[in-house]
Amino acid sequence: MPQGPLLFSPYDIRGVRLKNRVVISPMCQYSAVDGMAGDWHFAHLARFALGGAGLVFAEATAVECNGRITHGDLGIWSDAHVEPLKRIATFLKAHGAVPAIQLAHAGRKASMQRPWHGNGPLDDTDRARGEDVWPVIAPSAIPMDAGWLMPQALTLDEIGRLRASWKAATQRSIDAGFEVLEVHGAHGYLLHEFLSPLSNQRTDRYGGSFDNRIRLALEIVSDVRSVWPADKPLFFRVSSVDGVDGGWTVEDSIALARQLGPLGVDVMDCSSGGLLGSATAARVKRYPGFQVPYAAAIRRESGLPTMTVGLILEPQQAEDILRQGEADLIAIGREALRNPHWTLHAEEALGVDNEYASWPVQTGWWLDKRKKSLAPRLEAHR
Ligand SMILES: Cc1cc2nc3c(=O)[nH]c(=O)nc-3n(C[C@H](O)[C@H](O)[C@H](O)COP(=O)(O)O)c2cc1C
Repeated sequence: MPQGPLLFSPYDIRGVRLKNRVVISPMCQYSAVDGMAGDWHFAHLARFALGGAGLVFAEATAVECNGRITHGDLGIWSDAHVEPLKRIATFLKAHGAVPAIQLAHAGRKASMQRPWHGNGPLDDTDRARGEDVWPVIAPSAIPMDAGWLMPQALTLDEIGRLRASWKAATQRSIDAGFEVLEVHGAHGYLLHEFLSPLSNQRTDRYGGSFDNRIRLALEIVSDVRSVWPADKPLFFRVSSVDGVDGGWTVEDSIALARQLGPLGVDVMDCSSGGLLGSATAARVKRYPGFQVPYAAAIRRESGLPTMTVGLILEPQQAEDILRQGEADLIAIGREALRNPHWTLHAEEALGVDNEYASWPVQTGWWLDKRKKSLAPRLEAHR
């Protein structure tokens, strides 16, 4: 075990080295036009690379136009989406962060309002803004809740086309320069809807038994892996539990992880919930590190490395999780929105003294000089 904090020791996966174990979790900005990344996305993600994170995830990026959660989601369903994403990936890399993309399809949770417009299904107020409803798809014709859009159950032909969209999106992710790719299988979006018996009531080979319900996730992972380079890591985000009676359980997540490993998944990203209600609706009781036990169980029982996420707020908390072998990577979401320099501050908090060498030279040079010149003066004041 390294001498210094584990959080700041490098982590190697396949041919990619992360300079530390801090990951910025994917966070939708609901600010794209026609799926295109713009200046907001650039600035939003750039600040996390400047803030020292080892791995920076762009938000859920839709593999098909109808797979966006809202009109403002990022997409990668056409070649035109590649260039602005490439600008972001290039910048992240130039500043020491590994750029990551999360590919997603929202399934029956597509066609939603942006959170600040209500977080519900699109309605007349959105239509007045020019944001019309579009038809949504799912494993079965079961809406998420009363008052939500009735999805169309995918036909086998449509499943074939969907798989092709994931492959094309993977190729575009390579073209954009991303080095880690995550398949979004969580939060009640399309792949999770196939996994959970509550949303998947199909009677064909994609529904019913556990093996049938996980079939599409396995197929998509295999498809993505067949395109994604062998020296680049592949992550899978799972809702470790539905948190609803009769739903997906942590034992299911462990069994899924055991099958994803041999297909080339390197890290299980262990989130939870989201099957019913918006992704922010809490079905699982929340407290600092509330999802760590899932990452720990999945890691222990499947042998796959895990990433944990959810109310990880303090550097020492992150370090303890790693030291206790509960996860391999620490993902930070909202706390990084509050403080994009969370990683650099964590380094200081954990006593790593590298004379601000992890900071961009444009700032680190000054801070180091200030520290050194202040030290004797502070001493004199004692
Ligand atoms: C603004 C926002 C957008 C999010 N968008 C995504 C997303 O695109 N994909 C995803 O898997 N999770 C998304 N999440 C969930 C986060 O990745 C993370 O799992 C969650 O916020 C819990 O971590 P935290 O307590 O550190 O924020 C989002 C969360 C927030 C706050």
